[in-house]
Amino acid sequence: MTELMLPLLEKAAPDARVITVSSGGMYTAPLTKDLQFGDSNFNGVEQYSQNKRVQVALTEKWAEMYKNKGIGFYSMHPGWAETPGVATSLPGFSKALSGKLRTSEEGADTVVWLALQPKEKLAPGAFYFDRAEAAKHLPFAATGGSHVVIDSIVDNLRSMSGLSA
Ligand SMILES: NC(=O)c1ccc[n+]([C@@H]2O[C@H](COP(=O)([O-])OP(=O)(O)OC[C@H]3O[C@@H](n4cnc5c(N)ncnc54)[C@H](OP(=O)(O)O)[C@@H]3O)[C@@H](O)[C@H]2O)c1
Repeated sequence: MTELMLPLLEKAAPDARVITVSSGGMYTAPLTKDLQFGDSNFNGVEQYSQNKRVQVALTEKWAEMYKNKGIGFYSMHPGWAETPGVATSLPGFSKALSGKLRTSEEGADTVVWLALQPKEKLAPGAFYFDRAEAAKHLPFAATGGSHVVIDSIVDNLRSMSGLSA
């Protein structure tokens, strides 16, 4: 979907940006070519983490591929926020921490900040948390080298979406 919007984004250059909302859940997941859990029994929480890792790696790839097009690509983590999605998907967690999670507005803060910062102050393809660049990998999480498979994931996503290579 993001790539299909490139012509519109190019029209908005040099200040166009794509801000992808990922999650701290991606820290536990290495990038994997198995996008649809074909290799093992489906686990929704793991699938979520893997998809969120794909978003961070794709953002990095887009920044590299389209670096001369005047489009900024950034990914971010909103922190735990009390939203309808959390209430529905994690009812026990949501109930136990009711009133202690971030508000939706607090979760959205870094998205808005990324949209408004002068581009020179932002790092292309970087991952942000609370208005600052954050690491994409945690020590000892064994995810560090996994982004090398991004090219084959891009090919796979393009073929699944009927886009040309
Ligand atoms: N909440 C957290 O603590 C948390 C933590 C880390 C990351 N995140 C990330 O933050 C993002 C938002 O999460 P959330 O908790 O706010 O979830 P949410 O309460 O489920 O809200 C999701 C929003 O996305 C919209 N949406 C879903 N599918 C769509 C589609 N195909 N086209 C257009 N709009 C669509 C929904 O619209 P409708 O209401 O109209 O269906 C809804 O407004 C997600 O990417 C999530 O992974 C959230």
